[in-house]
Amino acid sequence: MKVLVTGGAGYIGSTVCSALEEHGHTPVILDSLVTGRREFTRGRAFYRGDIADRPLLERLLDEHPETCCTIHCAALIVVPESVAEPYRYYRENVAKSLDLFQNLVELGQTRVVFSSSASIYDASPDFRVTEDSPLRPGSPYARTKYMMEMVLEDLCHATELRGIALRYFNPIGADPGLRSGSHVEAPSHVLGRIVEAARGRLPVFEVTGTDWPTRDGSGLRDYIHVWDLALAHVRAVEQFDAVLERARLRDLNDRYLAVNLGTGQGVTVRELVAAFERVSRQPLPLRAAPPRPGDVGGAYAGVERAWELLGWRPQSSVDEGIRTALAWDERKILG
Ligand SMILES: NC(=O)c1ccc[n+]([C@@H]2O[C@H](COP(=O)([O-])OP(=O)(O)OC[C@H]3O[C@@H](n4cnc5c(N)ncnc54)[C@H](O)[C@@H]3O)[C@@H](O)[C@H]2O)c1
Repeated sequence: MKVLVTGGAGYIGSTVCSALEEHGHTPVILDSLVTGRREFTRGRAFYRGDIADRPLLERLLDEHPETCCTIHCAALIVVPESVAEPYRYYRENVAKSLDLFQNLVELGQTRVVFSSSASIYDASPDFRVTEDSPLRPGSPYARTKYMMEMVLEDLCHATELRGIALRYFNPIGADPGLRSGSHVEAPSHVLGRIVEAARGRLPVFEVTGTDWPTRDGSGLRDYIHVWDLALAHVRAVEQFDAVLERARLRDLNDRYLAVNLGTGQGVTVRELVAAFERVSRQPLPLRAAPPRPGDVGGAYAGVERAWELLGWRPQSSVDEGIRTALAWDERKILG
């Protein structure tokens, strides 16, 4: 099966490409390299350019007419940057995705798997959120994901397009084959900052927020191994029509479906630190700090829909996520 992967030179898109290949499929990458890495495209069909570039998309599909599905990972993803530069985020993530979807329909490509995010959910008193929980995206970045879900749903009602929005919780780790991994210089995600502190590139790891109503006061997240996340995409493209048929049999929308991708387990920041110290066998320099603007207590995924409709369950532990993150960091240092 040939699959168009936008953002296939990025952290998640490149891991999805590796998982597709391991299952006998062929990814075709469309990526502008605005943040992605050329080396993650090596040995793969790669078209460098913008997702809204219609002539480029036409050429790609002319040269790969067997393409049967699109996984749309391309986006700008840095929350504080989205607060400072909302125009750029709405233009890149919303306006251009809208053009991409319309171009895909017009070119006869009617299956889209969309990279969405758990950051679109409102806070839940018990931290658990299902696909039916209230939505309240808290940043321009999260609002671009929220808007694109609505856009995709509306297009799916009005056209031949069919969509599956995968709402990622907190991806960690790297491809176990270490073909690709996280590539940002100054990571803002928790495990990225932990690794920076452990390697001495940050003086200390700050536990930002210690008064949340969680087991130990630190924020709670649902850490999902990026390889498990990638395998969920393989499942979504292999089973695309069957997933929507199963949704229909459960009286759900059979043209557009949102699915949480998490483990169903909440892990606090302090528990993640303890796991890190266990796996790396080194103590981590720690300091408690106030929450950062826009921080939330956290959430974990209700995962029944992923189990029942996608037939997917994550296999990897948080410890494996930490192990592969460390191995990838080591590999980056060694070059
Ligand atoms: N990393 C996370 O924690 C996380 C969590 C939830 C959802 N997501 C979503 O997953 C997707 C992938 O995220 P990631 O962490 O791999 O980010 P990333 O920055 O590593 O990858 C994004 C890729 O998209 C490409 N890109 C961006 N805008 C483009 C455009 N207009 N045209 C062509 N290519 C473009 C970049 O060059 C990059 O290769 C994003 O849609 C993001 O919103 C990520």
